[in-house]
Amino acid sequence: MFYSLRSRILLTHLTLAVLILAGFGYISLRTLEGTYMKERQVRYFTHANILAGVLSDMLPWHEAEVRSVVRDYGNSAGVRILALDTTGRVVADTFDTLSDHLLTGSVVSSALSGQGAAIKHYIDSMPVMYVAVPVLHKGSVRGAVFISGRLDDIERAVNDYRRSWLLLGVACLVVAVVFSAALAQAVTGPIRALSQGVKDLAKTRLSARVKPSWGEMGDLARAFNDMAQKIERLDSSRRAFVADASHELKTPLASIKALAEPLIDADHPDVETIREFLRSIVAEVNRISHLSGQLLDLARMEGPPTHQDGARFDLRELLSSVVQRLQTAANTADVHIKTEMGDTPVIITGHPDSLESAFYNVLDNAIRYAGRGGTVQISVRRTSHVIEVVIDDTGPGIPECQREQIFERFYRGDPGRSRKTGGSGLGLAIARAALILHGGTLVAKDSPLGGARFVATLPQN
Ligand SMILES: Nc1ncnc2c1ncn2[C@@H]1O[C@H](COP(=O)(O)OP(=O)(O)OP(=O)(O)O)[C@@H](O)[C@H]1O
Ligand SMILES: [Mg+2]
Repeated sequence: MFYSLRSRILLTHLTLAVLILAGFGYISLRTLEGTYMKERQVRYFTHANILAGVLSDMLPWHEAEVRSVVRDYGNSAGVRILALDTTGRVVADTFDTLSDHLLTGSVVSSALSGQGAAIKHYIDSMPVMYVAVPVLHKGSVRGAVFISGRLDDIERAVNDYRRSWLLLGVACLVVAVVFSAALAQAVTGPIRALSQGVKDLAKTRLSARVKPSWGEMGDLARAFNDMAQKIERLDSSRRAFVADASHELKTPLASIKALAEPLIDADHPDVETIREFLRSIVAEVNRISHLSGQLLDLARMEGPPTHQDGARFDLRELLSSVVQRLQTAANTADVHIKTEMGDTPVIITGHPDSLESAFYNVLDNAIRYAGRGGTVQISVRRTSHVIEVVIDDTGPGIPECQREQIFERFYRGDPGRSRKTGGSGLGLAIARAALILHGGTLVAKDSPLGGARFVATLPQN
């Protein structure tokens, strides 16, 4: 139980509260008692000294006179006073009960040897203070004045104070318990919620979220929620991806089945029909192989980064080879490709294969959408810190609202048209992944040529 944060907070606060209260209580009680005693002692000494002066003037003593002075003074001061001669014999007593008795003890002998003294003493557990001062006459001790005063009022006052302090202490402890329980709850509540959230997440309950509190725990909870949200999104995109990929594979496979079965069932199909069917089957197989190639590219680029440094090469050469590969397609589509790459080599470090497939996909799209008689323009520019490859076309362009979606996997602006042309909606996802892998970006914009503009940036190195 004491291993829990909650009980540790509680225990620490309680220990602190008890130590502080007890320490303060003890010190203030001792100080109060000391002050009272000092004040009382000074008062008794003052009385004793005044009376010693009076008695010194009355020497030689007439016992009746001394008794009356001692009685009057004692009654008016509210203390018991005794006048002693040099032997310690009681000459006069305010209460008259000790007359002629012989007093001994440390304060008396100290006074009779010329030195005033005070002592605290208990008579049947009742505290009293004894004070004695010498009666001096021309430098010699001629007797002593002895005062005995009760201290029970001081003890009562100190006890009262102690009781109030105890009461206050208990009240403080109760408040401390309540406060530290609230604090412990405030601190451990979010931690417990968070650890529950982590357990839920570990049990693949991906919708687990934590209500953020304040301060550092709030930051931690928000970070956890962000992470959980990302995991949930990743998980759902993984599911969607598997579903989409299976769907994309299912369609051409169904076509192949539909094309092949009649050939098996037909009794005497003529060669031309067989050829036509086989051509369609090959087209579907090409679609599947295109798709599997795209999937492999994507898996390679979205996997953990390979720690190869990559090669150094001229980007212009890479782009020219992409143009060359697509030239036939451009000719067929009656699209003119213009390049503006400057005269100086643009050397970059990276993975040529993945960059080639990135630019191939963007250019392939541009050619496909540019329209008959249209133009595709590729230009390479250097800015102060990046290399920019801009690909413009004269096609229909991309509506503003689709400019992010087109980079999603399997997204096609016009599914019917893309399916006909064999598109799987993976090209731009692959292209962007390749550029991100190189520390770059890929975005779609409006082109001054009227169609779409794709801007790829790569860091200068
Ligand atoms: N230059 C462009 N002009 C107009 N629309 C474009 C252009 N490039 C891409 N798009 C739109 O973006 C969508 C996604 O393109 P993407 O290249 O990812 O897939 P795809 O071309 O359909 O298939 P593939 O996987 O074969 O490339 C396209 O379906 C199209 O709607
Ligand atoms: Mg494409």
